[in-house]
Amino acid sequence: MIIAIDGPAASGKGTLGKRLAAHYGFRHLDTGVIYRAVAKAMLDLGADLQDEARAVAVARALDPEKFGDPVLKTQAIGDAASVVSAIPAVREALINFQRQFAADPPGAVLDGRDIGTVICPDADVKIFVVADPKVRAHRRTLEARGRGEAADEALVLTDILKRDERDKNRAAAPLKCAADAHVLDNSNLDIEGGVRAAIAIIEQARATR
Ligand code: C5P
Repeated sequence: MIIAIDGPAASGKGTLGKRLAAHYGFRHLDTGVIYRAVAKAMLDLGADLQDEARAVAVARALDPEKFGDPVLKTQAIGDAASVVSAIPAVREALINFQRQFAADPPGAVLDGRDIGTVICPDADVKIFVVADPKVRAHRRTLEARGRGEAADEALVLTDILKRDERDKNRAAAPLKCAADAHVLDNSNLDIEGGVRAAIAIIEQARATR
């Protein structure tokens, strides 16, 4: 079984994906981390983020063992990730890895921007997570402070809105809700409430399959 979770920045889809994978005993892939890893490698090289040939080479050479590096979670890397992820050839270079991950048993939860639309269009269940940008900015600010980073909520909101625009309006695999996705608005839900709502969606989809 493949569960696709998409949504904008800081919508809580990563945490939700992890929790659902644990609940069902499936593997979990936070695909944002892949683009973040490409971005970090480009920054480490001192490369121009728009340099397509280098970004593709970096994407092909990625080491999944390094996806747990906490520095990948920072705002600066997230911004850079949204630039490299707009390059179609970079996305292309990362498709097989994601599809293979999804196909391996016993089942998988993938979260990102284009899982239900491009990577796994035949996913068994698709959930599109949304939340009010102000709520997302508040949560992201608390998370950043929890990691010891200085974070100004107004600037975080500006960044989230900028990233949403870039992700929605790019030509390659833009962020959009698949026609057959279930929309889950977690603006007024805590993590547990969001997990319960998602499980209800999945159970209903399984029962009607
Ligand atoms: O979800 P996260 O904030 O970690 O993603 C970082 C950036 O990577 C996003 O803003 C988006 O531009 C890009 N991304 C993407 N496709 C995905 C996952 C993330 O383009 N499947």
